[in-house]
Amino acid sequence: MPAHSQRRAAAHAGRAPAPAPAPAPAPGAPAEPVEALQDFLAPVFAQYPLPVVSARGVWLRTRDGRRVLDLYGGHAVAALGYGHRGWTQALSAQARTLSFQSNAVPLETRRRAAQRLIGFSGLDFNSVFFVNSGAEANENALKMAFTITRRAHVAAIEHAFHGRTAATGALTWGAAAKWYGYPRTPFDVSFIARDDERAIAQHVTAATAAVIAEPVQGVGGAYDLRPEFLAALRRRCDATGALLIFDEVQCGMGRTGAPFTALAVGVQPDMITTAKALGNGFPCAALLMNPRVASALKLDALGTTFGGGPMACAVIEAVIEAIESEGLLERVRHTSALIRERCLVGPVHACQGRGLLLGLRTTRPAREVHAALLERHILAGTSADPNILRLLPPFVLEERHVELLRAALLDIGG
Ligand SMILES: Cc1ncc(COP(=O)(O)O)c(C=O)c1O
Repeated sequence: MPAHSQRRAAAHAGRAPAPAPAPAPAPGAPAEPVEALQDFLAPVFAQYPLPVVSARGVWLRTRDGRRVLDLYGGHAVAALGYGHRGWTQALSAQARTLSFQSNAVPLETRRRAAQRLIGFSGLDFNSVFFVNSGAEANENALKMAFTITRRAHVAAIEHAFHGRTAATGALTWGAAAKWYGYPRTPFDVSFIARDDERAIAQHVTAATAAVIAEPVQGVGGAYDLRPEFLAALRRRCDATGALLIFDEVQCGMGRTGAPFTALAVGVQPDMITTAKALGNGFPCAALLMNPRVASALKLDALGTTFGGGPMACAVIEAVIEAIESEGLLERVRHTSALIRERCLVGPVHACQGRGLLLGLRTTRPAREVHAALLERHILAGTSADPNILRLLPPFVLEERHVELLRAALLDIGG
């Protein structure tokens, strides 16, 4: 049995030896097997054979010395790329000044982050609740909808992904069959077919507390719901008194070339949830609320220990500052157009999505194309759609990187 398997077996038998420190391999020496790096970790993630040790800009460096172009961004998180100076300085300065205080005390950095986020959104919001993850932001949005409407039904969209908790998993397409794991869902759920305006009235009724939609579905394959469909959801919510929640955990914070996709499609939701790019890797998330929702907030209605911590708020400000001062929204739109123009080659025959949340439709299984790209030192993403290769790169991606993708796709061939 190899050493790493022995360690794992011993740990599972309750005799955990101290994990051996992993020394950096000498130049030219074989790297530690990828499997060994998973010892003691819950074996719940399928992993790429890509032991990353460092990163800069849009490039990852692996333990065995590979330099890999990152078009995946750690699940759409690394918006500014890696080692961004403003982000790094904001985080380290805040760590030195005040590393943590909870919501039990007022913090100037927290107030600034909320004000900046609302201003950045360009939408009609007047209150922010900071939390730690996308699922938690969605949980709190749902809680507000139930509190306000006193109803017990939520409509979601087919192929949606909203998280792994009891509430958000209940609203995630296909979760029940695959991994949901709870004995029952905490409320009634129904799913509306994508872009099917005529189906909306049947699913959104006087019993509906909320409709939740990702304007661009991420895990579902970078599928951009039609603006007309999103506007029809808004109208039906207005007619029935249900609240409209846009889950912009993946497609928000500039990823689609606008601060939020809601602004780009001209639909004002009652709440937006966002995470991922919001912290550029520092875990944080936010729930933005319009005046109707905010007016229902009461002392102790929502809570969190870590949410709105000073380090999270410092990086949120730094992310918004970088997006605005470095013209990253324009850059996202420009690079997105370039990918559509240059990368419908080889196994790719169509493209969907918005900004830098793109789904390249492939003529053969996307997993095969993904593996072939990785052999050519490019990391992309897959999705729930077996023929969609998902791109979620840092916003700082450049034209030369798009050319590398094009060359690799041409080399792979159709
Ligand atoms: C659209 C969307 N909503 C919610 C989530 C859940 O976010 P988290 O993993 O931070 O809980 C994700 C995660 O991928 C997501 O893509």
